[in-house]
Formats: sequence, C-alpha cells, structure tokens
Amino acid sequence: MTTDRAKRAAGEAAAELVTSGMRLGLGTGSTVAYFLEAVAARALEVEGVPTSEATAARCRELGIGLLDPAEVDRLDLCVDGADELDRALNLTKGGGGALLREKVVAGLADRMVVIATPDKVVDRLGDSFPLPVEVVPFAIGPVRRRLEALGFEVSERRAGGELSLTDNGNAIVDCRMRGGIADPSALESTLAMTPGVAESGLFIGLATLALLGSSDGTVERLEAPSA
Ligand code: 5RP
Repeated sequence: MTTDRAKRAAGEAAAELVTSGMRLGLGTGSTVAYFLEAVAARALEVEGVPTSEATAARCRELGIGLLDPAEVDRLDLCVDGADELDRALNLTKGGGGALLREKVVAGLADRMVVIATPDKVVDRLGDSFPLPVEVVPFAIGPVRRRLEALGFEVSERRAGGELSLTDNGNAIVDCRMRGGIADPSALESTLAMTPGVAESGLFIGLATLALLGSSDGTVERLEAPSA
C-alpha cells in the first residue's frame, strides 16, 4: 500500500540516525514498526526502552535489547510516531493508546525524532484528530465533565462495549474541539493539573526533528524552530 511505503521510508530514514552503543526510546505504532525492522536489519548493538507492551513484544521478536526505565537516566534518541504535528513540531499522540509511556520515554531522551507522513502536518493541533487523554478509571466522570466544560466533545474509547484500558490500566477519552486547540501549551498545563488525568496526548516542545516519508520513498526533514 502507498501509505505503508511512506511509513517505511520514514522508519528507515530514522534508523539511519542510529549508531551502535545508543540507548533508544522506542515508540509505538505502525510507522515505528518499520523503524524497528530497519534497526534490526542493520544489526546494530543497541538497547531501548519500549513505550508499550506491543513494542516490547516486537523487539523481542527482532532481537532488539530492552531496558527497564527504572535503570535508565537518559536515552540518546527517542523515535516515535504521531497522530498530528504542527510546524513547530508540537504533537498529538495516543491514537495507539501508548501516550503516557511515550511521554515518559521522550522526556528521558536527549533528542526526539518523529516519523510520520506529510498528511499528518496540521496548522492547528486537534484539527484533524481528536486529542487522547489517559484517565484513571475512577475519575472518568469528573474528568469528562471538566473536559466538556473546556469545550471538548468527549468520547470514551471502548472495545466491545467495555472501556479500552491502556498498558497502565487506565482509560482513554478522545476529545474533539471544533477548529482545533487554540493554545496547546496552556491546555497541556491545565490537563496536567486536573485530578484523575494520568497524561494528555499533547507533546509540546519535545520533538526536534520530523522525518516525513512519502510513497515515492523520499523523506522530508522538518526541524523544530529552535533545533
Ligand atoms: C501511539 C501513538 C502513535 O505513535 C500514533 O498513533 C501514530 O501511529 P501510526 O504510526 O500507526 O500512525 O501515539 O500511542
């Protein structure tokens, strides 16, 4: 498929940034899957902290060494996908439900590189993809009402009628805002201070480079303004 070729191009370009001895942050999603394959194919001596059980399982299959975040002070490079990115490289993430671990791991890394396709670049975050927010199940009602008071249309992520739980045992609510999010940085702070919110899918000021793959195999580089 065209999109698969584009994702593969982005994943392979990110693997070119990896050298033996690096400690990596290993993101989650279909684009990251190509990155993991490309890293394994290069037979580099690397280890990484996985951001989900799915990524950990794939690393085991591919022979990529895993690190426990409890034993890691810093990582050289974190590579992860995104659901949306703006031109300042602020992101929305969490379509795959791994946002909390993804943000912890990105925060440990000297450098975060996003791999995506050009259709994910937006003028305003929240414009094309609902913002995922990870919520402690006990608090889902109060958090939902708080988000609605902020102007979001909120839907609980469910599978077969049951709340879909993350690897951390939390729920996810997907939040739509007509016209997108006016001030993502302020919203991230507001959500961080809301009791019961475990994490939001807003990644502000974390990524320094985006590699945007296209189906013809080309990759566009987008750098954060201060990078
Ligand atoms: C998972 C994520 C993913 O990185 C995001 O959903 C992009 O995934 P994909 O590469 O499959 O489009 O944030 O929580």
